[in-house]
Amino acid sequence: MGSIGSPNDQLKVLVTGAAGFVGQELAAALLNDPKVSHITLTDIVEPTVPATASPSKGRARCVKADLASHEARESLFTPDLDCIYLLHGIMSGQSESDLELGLKVNVDTVRAVLDLLRRTNIGVKVVFPSSLAVYGPANDGEIISEKTVPMPQSSYGAEKFMMETLINDFSRRKLIDGRIFRLPTVIVRPGAPTGAASSFASGIIREPLKGERSVLPVSRDLRMYICSPWTLVKNLIIARDIPAQKFGPSRTVVLPGIASSVQDMLDALEQVGGKKALDLVEEKVDETTNRIVASWPADFDFSRATSLGFVPEGTLLENVQEYARRYVKG
Ligand SMILES: NC(=O)c1ccc[n+]([C@@H]2O[C@H](COP(=O)([O-])OP(=O)(O)OC[C@H]3O[C@@H](n4cnc5c(N)ncnc54)[C@H](O)[C@@H]3O)[C@@H](O)[C@H]2O)c1
Repeated sequence: MGSIGSPNDQLKVLVTGAAGFVGQELAAALLNDPKVSHITLTDIVEPTVPATASPSKGRARCVKADLASHEARESLFTPDLDCIYLLHGIMSGQSESDLELGLKVNVDTVRAVLDLLRRTNIGVKVVFPSSLAVYGPANDGEIISEKTVPMPQSSYGAEKFMMETLINDFSRRKLIDGRIFRLPTVIVRPGAPTGAASSFASGIIREPLKGERSVLPVSRDLRMYICSPWTLVKNLIIARDIPAQKFGPSRTVVLPGIASSVQDMLDALEQVGGKKALDLVEEKVDETTNRIVASWPADFDFSRATSLGFVPEGTLLENVQEYARRYVKG
C-alpha cells in the first residue's frame, strides 16, 4: 500500500490519459515536484515526457497501453503506487456520437481499475476529473454548487456522474481515497481540435493566433464556466495533498473557474491578436454542439474548493496572454 508506506517526498504516481492535454500539463508539473520520486505516464497513444520537465526526465516511465486490457491494468496499477490520476477518457462530443466507446472507456475501464485498486492497493489516492457536464441546464439566476442535483444531458456527463458515485462509495468504504473534481472547461488548449463539444472554445483563440481560420459553432452570448490549464494543474496537485478527513462525507468538489461568454473570449482574442486574428473567426452555428454546451451551467459557487485550499482562476485576458507567451511564435 504505497499511500501508507511511502514518505511524503517519495511519492510514486501514475497518470492515465497522459498523452492528452491535461495529462501532459500535469506530467510537467509532477516531474518538477520534489515530492514525486517516480512517475508512470500511460495512454493508449504513446505518451511523451513533456519538454518543460527536462531536468527530471529520468524519473518518468512512459507506457503505451489500452486500459480496456486486463493485462495492461494488472501491470500498470501496482500496489506500490501512492497516487493515481485517472485522466483517460472519451470526451463529450465523441461520447455522444459513439455510445459504445464512451461506455467502454468512461465507465468500464474506470470501474475495472477501481475494482483492481480496492483489492490490491487499499487506501490509494485516486484523483478523478469529473466535469460540469454532470449538471443539467440551470434556471435563470441559479448558482450551481456540489449541492445542486446533477441531471446530465449528455452520455459523457452521465458516465462521469456514475463514476463519481462509485468513487464516493469506495471512499466511504475506505477501499480507496478518492478525490473527485468537477472541472470547468479548460482553455486555451494547445495542439489540434478534439472530440469535446467545447473544443471550439480553445479553437477560436488558438487557430486565429497562429493565423488560421476557426469556426464558431455556438452563439456569442453563450456563457461557459472555464479555467486555464495552469490553474487547473496547480489545483490537481493541491488535490493530491489535501488530508482525506477534510472532505467530509462527499469527495466531490467543484474546482474554481470563471463564467465567460463567447463574446468575452472573442474580446480577449482581439486584445491579444488584434483585429486580424478576430477576423479569422467564422460564425456557423452547429445545433448539436450548441445544444450540448448550452445545457452546461456557467455560474458556480466554488466556495467549498476555496475552503479546501484550492487557488482561484485569474482573468480570461491573463489566460490568453499566457497561452500566447507559451505557444505563439513571433
Ligand atoms: N479538458 C477539459 O476541458 C476537461 C473538462 C472537464 C473534465 N475533463 C476530464 O479531464 C480528463 C483529461 O481531459 P483532456 O482534456 O486531457 O482529454 P484528452 O482527450 O486530451 O485526453 C484523454 C486521453 O485518454 C486517452 N484514452 C482514451 N481511451 C483510452 C484507453 N482505452 N486506454 C488508455 N487511454 C485512453 C486518449 O488517448 C487521450 O490521450 C478527462 O477525463 C476529461 O473527461 C477535461
